[in-house]
Amino acid sequence: MCCNIPGGRSWIIPVTIDPSDLEYTPDQMESFAERRNQVLSRLEEGIVVLRSDDRESYNRNEFRVNSYFFYLTGYDGPQTFAVICKNENAPFILATPPRSIRSMIYGGEPQKDEEVIALYGPDRLLGYREFRSFIDSILGSGLPVYMDLSDRDLLQQLKDIKGEKGGSEFRNVSELVDELRVIKEPLEVERLQKACDITARAIAKVMKECEPGRYEFEMESLLEGTFREYGAAMPGFPSIMGSGPNSTILHYEPNMRLMEDGDLLLMDVGAEYGYYTADITRTIPVNGKFSEEQRTIYQLVLNAQLAAIDSMKPGNLIGDAHRVATRIIIQGLFELGLMTDSSSAWQASFYVLYPSSHYLGLDVHDVGAYGGFFAGFGHDSPGGGPESRVLEPGMVLTIEPGLYFRENGLQQLHEIFGNDADSTEIEAFIEQVAPVYEKYVHIGVRIEDDILITKEGRINLSRYAPKEVLDIEQIMR
Ligand code: GLY
Ligand code: MN
Ligand code: MN
Repeated sequence: MCCNIPGGRSWIIPVTIDPSDLEYTPDQMESFAERRNQVLSRLEEGIVVLRSDDRESYNRNEFRVNSYFFYLTGYDGPQTFAVICKNENAPFILATPPRSIRSMIYGGEPQKDEEVIALYGPDRLLGYREFRSFIDSILGSGLPVYMDLSDRDLLQQLKDIKGEKGGSEFRNVSELVDELRVIKEPLEVERLQKACDITARAIAKVMKECEPGRYEFEMESLLEGTFREYGAAMPGFPSIMGSGPNSTILHYEPNMRLMEDGDLLLMDVGAEYGYYTADITRTIPVNGKFSEEQRTIYQLVLNAQLAAIDSMKPGNLIGDAHRVATRIIIQGLFELGLMTDSSSAWQASFYVLYPSSHYLGLDVHDVGAYGGFFAGFGHDSPGGGPESRVLEPGMVLTIEPGLYFRENGLQQLHEIFGNDADSTEIEAFIEQVAPVYEKYVHIGVRIEDDILITKEGRINLSRYAPKEVLDIEQIMR
């Protein structure tokens, strides 16, 4: 896709339809073995048990492999179990479902056992019956079992088996794996880059098609259709397409509203490619041109986001980007007359609603420790905690400041901040700010990019999704 931008630049989003880039070479498969070795070196006693498929309601959800299972195996077939244990002869076991004629009639021929062994390298490939005896013996031995504790169904099954035996305790596999998942390998970055490129292309398509009189779901369909057009299996999370008042709802999902002239459209979306998801937010004027009020808020959020991105480099803290963005936003709000005291923590907390970064990877809110970043965030501390973790090369984080002027925002102040400020202070604030706030009601702006921390600084993986005012208006013309 190519669009001309004022000043003669052209907007090129380099992405090809080529699902062969999803295949892993034998060399690349070594990464999965290396991850298992890392887990083994952290495993003092016990075993890891994971399953690929925690789908519970038949025909409702598409199969999507469990993230921990995929991270440690590279295998993505359904109804398969993986075991990692310190057994010298068989540290890596896969157990695949029985092949019945019926399952082949419905699902086609599964990979042959020899192929599974050659590609994924299990030391043993078991059937369900052998696997069940293996699990029985482990649970009877009392060794701890590390698993994905959010897989409630598997936990219950294992507890039921253990009930007969006594013994093993269940621990979260996150203790062994999350730190590994925080630092992305080049192969993972490749997947994330393509997920971002596909998402950028889909967003640009929405920019071109968007106009008053169309529904939010039409834009969602165009976007997700484009994901699929480039081989993305599905969105990494439910697409948010919020127009007008819905742009101020952080996790709006129905996407049913008819868009009107003068609305903003906030799209918070991400394609999942090879199980890695993008998470990009762009906010655009439905009619193709920002109103003065929309542009004011948009440019303030953009300035904050650009400065925050500049601060993201090794040695700085995760919380620094949030702090930089928050400082600029507070200064801007104060200058606009939307705050009466730029040092008031509760006034800042009224506008700064969430910490501006999270890890991104196999999951949209990817696993990993943040230090005190989230713990330090609260009503009286919109800046986040001072003790958040240091940024390291290989981390991928979002940066997503936003401002949201909900219609009844000011009326909610007593309820939200009744314990932080006295009611006369809140009343005085409302009286002074209301005439300005009114001008911005129904404006919700979030701008979100996906940033890879590198030795030299950073790479913005979502750089191809247009976000400068002039670029957006040019593309939408
Ligand atoms: N799309 C969810 C988030 O931005 O965190
Ligand atoms: Mn998002
Ligand atoms: Mn996000």
